[in-house]
Amino acid sequence: MILYFSGTGNCLSVARRIASETADKAISLYDAANADLSSEKVIGLVYPSYYFNPPRPVPILLDRLTLPTNAYVFIVIVCGAQTGNSIWAVEQLLRRKGVRVAYCHKLRMPDCSAIGFGRNPNDQTWKFERFASRLDRIISDVKARRHAHHFGAWGPAGWLCALPSVEKRTWPLLLPHVNADKCIGCGVCERVCPQGNISLVLLPKNSSSERNSESNGEVAQIGGKCVECLSCVHFCQQQAIEIAGRPTPKLHQYHNPNVKLKDLLRR
Ligand SMILES: Cc1cc2nc3c(=O)[nH]c(=O)nc-3n(C[C@H](O)[C@H](O)[C@H](O)COP(=O)(O)O)c2cc1C
Repeated sequence: MILYFSGTGNCLSVARRIASETADKAISLYDAANADLSSEKVIGLVYPSYYFNPPRPVPILLDRLTLPTNAYVFIVIVCGAQTGNSIWAVEQLLRRKGVRVAYCHKLRMPDCSAIGFGRNPNDQTWKFERFASRLDRIISDVKARRHAHHFGAWGPAGWLCALPSVEKRTWPLLLPHVNADKCIGCGVCERVCPQGNISLVLLPKNSSSERNSESNGEVAQIGGKCVECLSCVHFCQQQAIEIAGRPTPKLHQYHNPNVKLKDLLRR
């Protein structure tokens, strides 16, 4: 069983590829909620690095699962550059549940957070070519049930950035918000948000027609459970979800080319 967390599809594409090559199945950590996986022989975890840590829901969702203590467990971290504490934090949690990680590796893919800093994640597609061979290697290692820990190089700066106090300060940098003048209430963001944190609310009377002729009279509203996966930012067809008050350029919207919007919609 390959469990993944994915906002813009990089981790989903990796999880699917590993699953198809190892005759296993890939399932979202959200869909696996509270499952008893104690009879699984292989557990794979594929998730991104956020602020040099695992995304906030990953340890929470993992903790709810019943995991096998004698399975072959591997982790693949997908990141823009550096994994920091992302592997170690989950390893520690699993160890407390009596589960040992046999193998871990990182993979660099286009960084979806680049959009928040005015850069285009689509300029980073060279990472696919460069790391295609690494994914092949990971798959062959998993098939052979190899034991190895490849954390990737990261120095004191990486440790420092992974500190909770640093994460707390950098968190607001990528917090999305809805530009109500652009939002047409189509509901894509509501369905793609893995946290179920976006809802559509009615606009006050007569404001919708003045504001946007395509609007259906509703506007998206982001709640307090955002984990900054940025799927809403990248999939909004109106570019109405912005980061740090800056407009979202259509050209900078990214999702993994092997993944479609429907693959990431919440069940
Ligand atoms: C909020 C946020 C924080 C991120 N922090 C890091 C980081 O610390 N190090 C890194 O290499 N990449 C970082 N990234 C880039 C993601 O790890 C990368 O885009 C990953 O491929 C996303 O996977 P997904 O497409 O499955 O959501 C960050 C992305 C987001 C959205």
